[in-house]
Amino acid sequence: MNKKIAVIKGDGIGPEIIEESVKVLKKIEDKFGHSFELIYVDAGGAAIDKCGKALPQETIDVCLASDSVLLGAVGGPKYDSQPAENRPERALLGIRSLLGLYANLRPAKLFDQLRDASPLREEIVDAGIDFMVVRELTGGVYFGDHVTEEKDGEAVAYDVMKYSESEVKRIAKVAFDTARLRGKKVCSVDKANVLDSSKLWRKVVVEVAKDYPDVELSHMYVDNAAMQLCKNPAQFDVILTENMFGDILSDEASMITGTIGTIPSASFGDSTRGMYEPIHGSAPDIAGMDMANPIGTILSVAMMMKYSFHMENEAKVIEEAVGKVLDQGYRTKDMESANTTVIGCKEMGDRIAELI
Ligand code: NAI
Ligand code: MG
Repeated sequence: MNKKIAVIKGDGIGPEIIEESVKVLKKIEDKFGHSFELIYVDAGGAAIDKCGKALPQETIDVCLASDSVLLGAVGGPKYDSQPAENRPERALLGIRSLLGLYANLRPAKLFDQLRDASPLREEIVDAGIDFMVVRELTGGVYFGDHVTEEKDGEAVAYDVMKYSESEVKRIAKVAFDTARLRGKKVCSVDKANVLDSSKLWRKVVVEVAKDYPDVELSHMYVDNAAMQLCKNPAQFDVILTENMFGDILSDEASMITGTIGTIPSASFGDSTRGMYEPIHGSAPDIAGMDMANPIGTILSVAMMMKYSFHMENEAKVIEEAVGKVLDQGYRTKDMESANTTVIGCKEMGDRIAELI
């Protein structure tokens, strides 16, 4: 198959983790006889450095003309002084919204080999951690009005959390469809005891659930969900939640599986074109040190194969190669534990590619 992939390296560790993922893409091309045309474009800090704009029009055009997008991570302290509308993170929000990527899938699965890296007690880990966070990605407070104004002689700032019925409905459907292919349970996370947007959320989710009698629906307030993720993560199959709650809970979910460095994500809308990226940021503290964990990005490539290209086998081969390297005891620094060998980002990528 011929596929066009827009590649955005981004900032900080972005270029390092993308380089390793490209090694994997090349191996998949060779092994399965595909042709992946990689088109490199900039967004975020790298784009600001080149042309002053965090999200150049060319980047949008190339993404729209591609079959999918692979992204490292954007942002960093160097860009903190940028005006709000030209911050690297806003570029990411722009791509998500312009491509209509309203659904963000973030699997949280504990690799058996990384059990020691989980901060949770052994008996909690033993019960198993394997769930999927389905996060709404183009609505909620990140996309509502952001306002800072003067009132009665002091600065006042507010951000608006807003959802429409149709926005909730389409993401709820994704969650229920996802649950059908997994453990047939959806836990919808909101703050319906306080927020109107959450009350509407809950009402719509209950409506959508009527079309999925085979899937069990439960509801949880977000503060309790944060607690339950530490106390009893085995209870979850699919967690359905709004944009900001999903952002926070999926970072927490990544930590209980050992490290944020291994968690991939897929974002899509109504077409098969998706954007694939690790859930972590640009990690400026370790950028350029060959210390970054490339597995989250490599597993994002596996998700791309599965969700955008329907290449199930290719995805499986990548996942198995990652498993084998971990079996052999190799770890990047963030996954280090007793009796393991710490290697750099490059060597991790080489070893995974070699096993494909
Ligand atoms: P971060 O995820 O970049 O880093 C948090 C901690 O995790 C750091 O100690 C970092 O070293 C570590 N870490 C992250 N990824 C790692 C990897 N692959 N291997 C090993 N260790 C890893 O979050 P932080 O520090 O809050 O944000 C840094 C910058 O990234 C900010 O400018 C932020 O806005 C941006 N950001 C961008 C995202 C994106 O592009 N999707 C998502 C989150 C943050
Ligand atoms: Mg985040």
